[in-house]
Amino acid sequence: MCTVHKHHQKYPVTQTAMRIMTSYLRVQKPLPFINFKSITRAFSVAATISPPSKAIIYSTHGEPNTVAKLVSIPGIEVKENEVCVKMLAAPINPSDINRIQGVYPVRPEPPAIGGYEGVGEVYSVGSAVHNFSPGDWVIPSPPSFGTWQTYIVKDHNVWHKVDKGVPMEYAATITVNPLTALLMLEDCITLNSGDTIVQNGATSMVGQCVIQIAKSRGIRNINIIRDRAGVDEVKERLKDLGADEVFTENELEVKNVKSLLGDIPEPVLGFNCVGGNAASLVLKFLRHGGTMVTYGGMSKKPVTVSTSSFIFKELSLRGFWLQKWLGKDKAEESRGMIDRLLALVKDGKLKYKMELAPFEEFNTALDKALGKLGSQPKQVIKF
Ligand SMILES: NC(=O)c1ccc[n+]([C@@H]2O[C@H](COP(=O)([O-])OP(=O)(O)OC[C@H]3O[C@@H](n4cnc5c(N)ncnc54)[C@H](OP(=O)(O)O)[C@@H]3O)[C@@H](O)[C@H]2O)c1
Repeated sequence: MCTVHKHHQKYPVTQTAMRIMTSYLRVQKPLPFINFKSITRAFSVAATISPPSKAIIYSTHGEPNTVAKLVSIPGIEVKENEVCVKMLAAPINPSDINRIQGVYPVRPEPPAIGGYEGVGEVYSVGSAVHNFSPGDWVIPSPPSFGTWQTYIVKDHNVWHKVDKGVPMEYAATITVNPLTALLMLEDCITLNSGDTIVQNGATSMVGQCVIQIAKSRGIRNINIIRDRAGVDEVKERLKDLGADEVFTENELEVKNVKSLLGDIPEPVLGFNCVGGNAASLVLKFLRHGGTMVTYGGMSKKPVTVSTSSFIFKELSLRGFWLQKWLGKDKAEESRGMIDRLLALVKDGKLKYKMELAPFEEFNTALDKALGKLGSQPKQVIKF
């Protein structure tokens, strides 16, 4: 197998990348009709070749709506330890966009298929695979690159079987954002029932999960959102999820934000996924000795901290990165946490706003995910 060098690490040029490289120039033609189902049946005894796949690939880094293209790639061999998965759904997350832009620290080298998480149905298994059967729902766990395609062939160890009793859009999105919310609430500092947290970007999928998980643990939560038309409806929605308070950034243009807290204790922990003014507001809410965890930078503005925040208020600032956490041999632990999160979804205790977008309408979904059409729910591609 050949390899490429990236950030001092060797990344194998995978079979998928080779497929893309060899097929890129003969795409964008109408795809011939192939009856995949009859092929699976024919291969069910000795499944060796996956069906051809349709995929969103980028052959160079750049603005996603310029460089990402729908292409057709030929089927590949399903080796004895591999599983061929027919993808059902996969989200467009901010980090997927950053990988295409080439600004995310860990990313595949182009040409590459977009996407990092998703859910699919087992289509066929290699001869040595006994823990999966056609029809099972599986997610790549830990997530892995290239989920924006109709068929994926990967080693059986990559896949984690999930409960088919949850809506597919939840199975598709359960790792990157809900797991981040759960980990940040469990791993950053010890939080007790009655404590308070504060977060910006509360409308994000992570933010919505933070609200619900915090609420279930008796943790009060203060939420900061961007100003917008229809703000009351958004506030109502977040309060229905369990938000104690929701403020827009403009509403926090007051001398002492803590005067708005009423009987809610000052927050001990803050989450920042925005930066700029929204991060300063999180810091203003924190109590003496509090901690702010930065996990995203949606505004692309830096976090500015006053000298006195460190010296007199003794605030601590740190970051969280799921990909780093998953890299610490946490595959098994993360699968257990994902099952816990899916159980919450099944029980109606964890929900978040999403919009299913047909694969054929990927470009519109991408525009929405890029914020070109204003604030939008999470876009989840339905294959
Ligand atoms: N560090 C990690 O391991 C990790 C893991 C998961 C996610 N993340 C990060 O967490 C953040 C949220 O991800 P998500 O998938 O949950 O988000 P999402 O559901 O896709 O929602 C996007 C969020 O970003 C806000 N936003 C978009 N553009 C903005 C701007 N220019 N200024 C301020 N806010 C803006 C949106 O607010 P409106 O509602 O006002 O549009 C919305 O709350 C992202 O930065 C993502 O990269 C980090």
